[in-house]
Amino acid sequence: MRRIDAALDAFSRPSEGCPAALAEAMRYSLLAPGKRLRPTMVLLAAEACGGEIEAALPAACAVEMVHAYSLVHDDLPAMDDDDLRRGRPTCHVRFGEALAILAGDALLTLAFEVLAREIEPEALAGRCCLELARAAGAAALVGGQADDLAAEETGGDAAMLEAIHRRKTGAMFLVSLRLGGLCAGADNEQLAALDAYGKAIGLAFQIVDDLLDEGGDETAMGKRVQKDADRGKLTFPRLLGVDESRRRASSLVAGALAALRPFGSAAEGLEGLARYVLERNR
Ligand code: IPE
Ligand code: IPE
Ligand code: MG
Ligand code: MG
Ligand code: MG
Repeated sequence: MRRIDAALDAFSRPSEGCPAALAEAMRYSLLAPGKRLRPTMVLLAAEACGGEIEAALPAACAVEMVHAYSLVHDDLPAMDDDDLRRGRPTCHVRFGEALAILAGDALLTLAFEVLAREIEPEALAGRCCLELARAAGAAALVGGQADDLAAEETGGDAAMLEAIHRRKTGAMFLVSLRLGGLCAGADNEQLAALDAYGKAIGLAFQIVDDLLDEGGDETAMGKRVQKDADRGKLTFPRLLGVDESRRRASSLVAGALAALRPFGSAAEGLEGLARYVLERNR
């Protein structure tokens, strides 16, 4: 975690030409005290596949940059309209909407600069860029966010909701694991096991996020609660109830743990993380 934060700090120092206010807004959101789950997953996946943490650090930072941008934009008035994030005023509340939009744009772009510049060999950097672009793109994160907003008006069923969650949240978990594996030279079998773990954990994570919005503590979470119901969001507790949602999340985590078996003790970190996803209160 300290290594991730130090690397995020180093990679986000403003280069010549970057306005001071823009750099401040970018670093305000990127370096704010988030859980760093996605970069941690990159490093733990690399470890599970027998690789070096150091070689996976740029990929860890890149996924956190994309995540941080997605939060800045998710909080905008035109999207979820939130004023609290990671225990602080949201980026647009602190810096204004225009600079928040631009800070998000710049964080997203910086992620790909870091991958392209820092990952070796070049062919691996290209592969990482491609996989992250897909996960962040119109058929995954952005598409899921678009449908999440549309569903405020249209509603939908559990299949629709699962499709939203898999794209808006799950895709970034999946790609975090895959980039960690790729940087560690994982073979196809290892990547398939990471995929199975990632699919399950990504959906479980967003189900728990929905549950925490209903029953969580604002101070612990560092963000507003009970917002989903206010906005008419399609969520798991709304469609299935709290108990069934919790059961689903538990059974997904059990599936995620089972998928880690081929790694043996090398996947202890990923096991702990899967349990945390279920038990977390923030
Ligand atoms: C929040 O993600 C956004 C969702 C996808 C639900 P996190 O709960 O991982 O947020 P941080 O990074 O810890 O702030
Ligand atoms: C956010 O989902 C997903 C992305 C940022 C891509 P939510 O809207 O549920 O996240 P929170 O609850 O605001 O953190
Ligand atoms: Mg949202
Ligand atoms: Mg939101
Ligand atoms: Mg939420």
